[in-house]
Amino acid sequence: MEKTSIHGMWSSRTAFILAATGSAVGLGNIWRFPYMTSDNGGGAFVLIYLACIAVVGLPILMSEILLGRYGRESPVNTLIGAVRDSRASRGWVGIGWIGIVAGVLILSFYSVVAGWTLHYSWLYLKQLFGGAGITDPAATFGALLASPLELSLWHALFMVLTVGVVALGVEKGLERAVRFLMPALFILLLVLVIYGATTGHLGQAATFLFNPDWSRVDGNTFLRAMGQAFFSLSLGMCTMMTYGAYLPKDISIPKVGVTVALADTGVALLAGLAIFPIVISFGLDPQGGGPGLIFTSLPLAFNAMPLGIFYGLLFFALLSVAAWTSSISLLEPATAYLVERGRMSRKRAASCVAGLCWLLGLASVLSLNHWSHIQLFGRDIMSFIELIANDLMLPLGGLLIALFTGWALRETVLRDQLTGMPQGLFTTWRWLLRIIAPVLVLAVLVSAVL
Ligand code: PHE
Repeated sequence: MEKTSIHGMWSSRTAFILAATGSAVGLGNIWRFPYMTSDNGGGAFVLIYLACIAVVGLPILMSEILLGRYGRESPVNTLIGAVRDSRASRGWVGIGWIGIVAGVLILSFYSVVAGWTLHYSWLYLKQLFGGAGITDPAATFGALLASPLELSLWHALFMVLTVGVVALGVEKGLERAVRFLMPALFILLLVLVIYGATTGHLGQAATFLFNPDWSRVDGNTFLRAMGQAFFSLSLGMCTMMTYGAYLPKDISIPKVGVTVALADTGVALLAGLAIFPIVISFGLDPQGGGPGLIFTSLPLAFNAMPLGIFYGLLFFALLSVAAWTSSISLLEPATAYLVERGRMSRKRAASCVAGLCWLLGLASVLSLNHWSHIQLFGRDIMSFIELIANDLMLPLGGLLIALFTGWALRETVLRDQLTGMPQGLFTTWRWLLRIIAPVLVLAVLVSAVL
């Protein structure tokens, strides 16, 4: 009989695609991608990011799903089983632990930023009912960052929402949340791109996004672009492994992998094409926008466009939902592990991990105001956590996953999970994992550290 997961199973291929896309598409695409592009020089960053998705991201995405479905347990236990079956070293289990630590670190600041989107949804909702508008977006954003109390409350609310879904479990919680909301977000982004086109600056924005200026590129650009690729695809911290554990056996991993990667990349590019025409048409500098980019630029457009308040509300509400479907996937690996240890209910486990993330998140909250003078390697605490977790731990986790799948796992396991994959593709995939992806990731990590 086919092995199933004690945590539940996705009801169909579509359910998995929605959940995995829900995990991948989030603040990474709509908040982080535009501002990373803005801070790292535009086109060259985007091209390196796209190359990383294709050559490193997609093969590792497939490995994670494969490993998960093979083990059908939380990442740590899946790896323990895989190591036993393949007589590999116990050291590989460390991949699962890197995943848990990275997940906790990422969720700690992710929830803070998601709190910003909740706050903006609230502002637009109030405005819809006659409240004051966002007349000076930079000032509004500045006021939010200056208030630790408000930041921590929105951060708390978002964490509670996340725990709620994870506590409900796979079918009831995760699946239901993504079914309608992801397509809605996609349509809204299209509306914004169309609006951007009417400003007459779509061409300029496209040039900024796709025309590489290689003089702006250094080792750091590669690190940030690669980190962004991992972050955006939810790779390197065993999220996709965890979701793969709930994937029925008859579904093709390459097909779902490609679908998720295309959807995720599509949304990021769409977000870029939506935001930069607006930035340019309002005379803002597309370079160096920083983490506030979408919060300071988009309200300008919502103020100017017909039905703007309504669109503003819809945009930030849907962005909150996109963040929500990602944050549940950040919480799920550690939760599933605690449940498997047998001493905690799902609800209890999710609450404990989320509580820890919330507390840690307070450091990010304070780094935006009272602790803004504290600098670690030239960054505030929040950007430092972001750098360590996204740009270093995720690629490192991904590198180890590639090596483990490529070299340590028995070939019969791979074949069994990838039945029907044409031989040529299988071989290409395996060599990407064995040599090409590891060498590229290592080169980028080493050059950045040096
Ligand atoms: N991919 C998510 C986003 O783009 C973030 C994420 C990273 C989720 C890692 C899970 C794991 O917002």
